[in-house]
Amino acid sequence: MSTASQLRAALAARLIEDAPSVEPEWRSAVQTVPRELFTRSYFRPVAGTVPTGYRPVREGEPGWLEGVYSDETLITQLDGRIRPDDMTEGAVTGSPSSSSTLPSLVLRMWRRLGAETGHRVLEIGTGTGYSTALGAHRLGDADLTSVEYDPVVGGAAAAALKAAGFAPRLIIGDGLRGDPNGGRYDRLIATCAVRYIPLSWLHQVKPGGKILVTLSGWSYANALALLDVTGPGEATGRFLPGCTSFMIARPHDRPPRPTLVLSPGDERPSRIDPTKRDDWTGGWVAQLAAPSAERMGAGPEQILWDVSTGSQARTAPGPDGGWTVVQRGPVRLWDRVEQAIRLWQAAGEPRQEGFGITVSAAGQRVWLATEDGPGWDLPI
Ligand SMILES: C[S@@+](CC[C@H](N)C(=O)[O-])C[C@H]1O[C@@H](n2cnc3c(N)ncnc32)[C@H](O)[C@@H]1O
Repeated sequence: MSTASQLRAALAARLIEDAPSVEPEWRSAVQTVPRELFTRSYFRPVAGTVPTGYRPVREGEPGWLEGVYSDETLITQLDGRIRPDDMTEGAVTGSPSSSSTLPSLVLRMWRRLGAETGHRVLEIGTGTGYSTALGAHRLGDADLTSVEYDPVVGGAAAAALKAAGFAPRLIIGDGLRGDPNGGRYDRLIATCAVRYIPLSWLHQVKPGGKILVTLSGWSYANALALLDVTGPGEATGRFLPGCTSFMIARPHDRPPRPTLVLSPGDERPSRIDPTKRDDWTGGWVAQLAAPSAERMGAGPEQILWDVSTGSQARTAPGPDGGWTVVQRGPVRLWDRVEQAIRLWQAAGEPRQEGFGITVSAAGQRVWLATEDGPGWDLPI
């Protein structure tokens, strides 16, 4: 049976093989930080279950250590309250609310942030503390502050970081408010997603500093952005290649919704193929166009529902080919989605690295191709 250090060395070797230019300091961090201290128990999805069932895997159980040293995200909390250690037997369903992000992504994000020795770094979303430990190994405890919303999660991370020999500054609170004591940071990295860039970040990161964060929304679409802070309250940046997704920051999560009742509305042919929304970038563009709508379904039969206005749109295959859409309510959700998808199609359906973001006192806008190109305002 392999030991933790053998499995850690094997995972680190795989990560380094996949990213041969990885700097010696980050190599050393992945070779050294014991992920098993941060993931003493986690949930494993039960294959074939709908909705997904999760079974706890605890320290010492068969497969536990192999799971710890897989390059996978390990879910450690569901619905903001259920932890693997709370369960006595069987499986449970729920929405993942905390996890240890897959190590290759954590490494990629830390490297992309361009954090150097001497930089002051603010991390949002401590989670298990694994990514915090990698950062503390690279940058030193004194320059790293990490904020976690959930006190139980944050308490467990603090204990794990201590056990692993790290002592960065840890805060329990809403990281969307930044560092409650104020502060001037060179870099900000978020391992939870946001619907828009919180203003406090734009004032706590110095001009010339960088913010790395996933932009997400209520239709479950995601894109990772790297922003340069250009002045107090101002930033601009581009979206990065790859399919990166994170759980949304708790204060930015979608509101609870009542049971869906499909109501009659105005029917017409759809000008776009609804399955365009199943594409990673297509779904994201649609979310930019209708940011307050939640998406349900996939393929040609989709529902968009904006709980705040009661607006709905639902698509279906048309009787003679093509597709139809039924819309009701004050916001014509499908009109907006169609317009955005057609713009994106006319531009050749670029991936999200073809988009950028500008943030200023005037608002927050995601644009296609160039800053003065077509764009969408974020729901601040
Ligand atoms: C994907 S996990 C973080 C993974 C973590 N960095 C790791 O490597 O273990 C996202 C975390 O963000 C936390 N979170 C959500 N909203 C937050 C907020 N507003 N402020 C700080 N943390 C938040 C969640 O509670 C969760 O623990």
